[in-house]
Parts: sequence; C-alpha cells; structure tokens
Amino acid sequence: MKGKIYVVGVGPGDPELMTLKAMRILKQSPVWLAPAASKGGASTAFTIASGAVNSTGKEVITHHFPMTKVHAGQQADPEVEQAWKDAAEIISGHLDQGRDVAFPTLGDPAIYSTGFYVIEKLSELVGDITAEIIPGISAIGATSAATSVPLCLGDERLVVIPATFEDKQLKEVLATFDCVCLMKVHKVMDKLLALLDELGLTEHAVLVERTTLENQKIHYDLHKAAAQKIHYFSTMIVRKP
Ligand SMILES: C[S@@+](CC[C@H](N)C(=O)[O-])C[C@H]1O[C@@H](n2cnc3c(N)ncnc32)[C@H](O)[C@@H]1O
Repeated sequence: MKGKIYVVGVGPGDPELMTLKAMRILKQSPVWLAPAASKGGASTAFTIASGAVNSTGKEVITHHFPMTKVHAGQQADPEVEQAWKDAAEIISGHLDQGRDVAFPTLGDPAIYSTGFYVIEKLSELVGDITAEIIPGISAIGATSAATSVPLCLGDERLVVIPATFEDKQLKEVLATFDCVCLMKVHKVMDKLLALLDELGLTEHAVLVERTTLENQKIHYDLHKAAAQKIHYFSTMIVRKP
C-alpha cells in the first residue's frame, strides 16, 4: 500500500479540543472517511473535524456504521461486519493510489472507536498496511472537566463501562470501584437509576449531555434527567465519596 491510514481522535465536540497533531493530519490527508451513526445522516466526527480544519477540496466519504452492540471476542452482527469491510475496501482503493486517508473519530480512538475494527479489516484485506492512531480528548475526560469531578486520585480505581451491559456486571462494577464512567447511557437510564438507588449511589452521580457542545447540560438530579429524553452523547460519572 502506498498511502497511510490515520485514525484521528477529534475530541468530544468543541473543535478547540482537537490536538495540533489531529489538525495537521486532517489538513494533509486528501481523503477523509467519516463515520455516520445513521444511514444518510451526518457524521459528528466530520462536523467536529471541519470546525477546525477546512475540508474544501478534500474527498469526504461519509460511511454508515450501524449502531449494533459489539461484544468483545464475539462475532459481530453481519451488518456491522459488512460496514467495516466496505469501509476497508474504500480506504484500500485510495491507499493503493498513494492517497493518505484520515478516519476522524469521536473523542479518543482508544475508547469504543470503530476505527480499530476498520484497521483490522483493512489489514485482513491487504495484509501490510501503514496505520497511525492519533489520540484525542475523550468524552470522559471532558465530562470530568465540565463537572470538576476528578476521575481518580491517589490509589482510587477507575472503570469505564458501556451502560448497556447486563445488570449483574453493572451492579458488581458500581459496587466495587471508586469511580465508574458510564457511556451509552441514553437508552438505559431507568435501569441504571434503579441500580444506583439500590446501591445508595444516586447522589454521587452526575450526568452530562453533549459535553463541550452547544446546549451542554449538566444533570445533578438524575431522576429529573431520566424523565426526559437523554441525548446519545451523554456520559455519567459515579464517584464514591
Ligand atoms: C462509541 S462511544 C465513543 C467514545 C469516544 N471514543 C470517546 O473517547 O469519548 C459513544 C459514547 O461516548 C460518549 N460521548 C461521546 N461524545 C460525547 C459528548 N460530547 N458528551 C457526552 N458523552 C459523549 C457517550 O456516552 C456516547 O454514548
């Protein structure tokens, strides 16, 4: 492959939270393949990236990745697998022509990013690839900053977990660790609140919707928040006193 693939963390939303390196890589890459959560919908990662780097003249491909649960170590849903493979095919076509491709991804690629699956499929497809991951500011760091709640201090132990996990694991994690960052909370607020109430942790939890974006909302009253429709971009921090 003549070109290089970059998975670029673009941060949680505010373009000012993109790193200088992310901006440089996006600027120099002629092709951006941007993930979109809905078919025909916009890519949030593209919106953030183009808020800091002019995308005029670039080939921008918005690619839909279905939002289906992926369990580590298990075969993913065929629709999701196909979306990863299709993205790899498109990217390999550009790399073959010597064009570098940037894959902007929300937050930090290290945390639940599709970018890693795409790189895996790309190397399965073409073998030897040149890839680089550019770290970004994660929603958990940004949510900590927005609320002034540290994630861990001293010998405290931190866990990051998708709230869509089964109840038993979630309960164990909440009961065991000093600080728990919950992502993907928007559809399971009722279940989550019942658990937090049961463990006496509700008053130690804070929920932030659309961290660093316009209309950012910080919820300290989680029962009130759960009664409303919560945005997909919502992160909860539960930090024991
Ligand atoms: C697929 S994960 C991506 C995480 C991302 N790689 C990161 O480092 O933040 C999507 C989840 O990240 C969280 N998230 C992403 N952006 C957010 C934002 N601006 N505000 C609050 N939570 C956000 C939400 O919990 C959302 O359900």
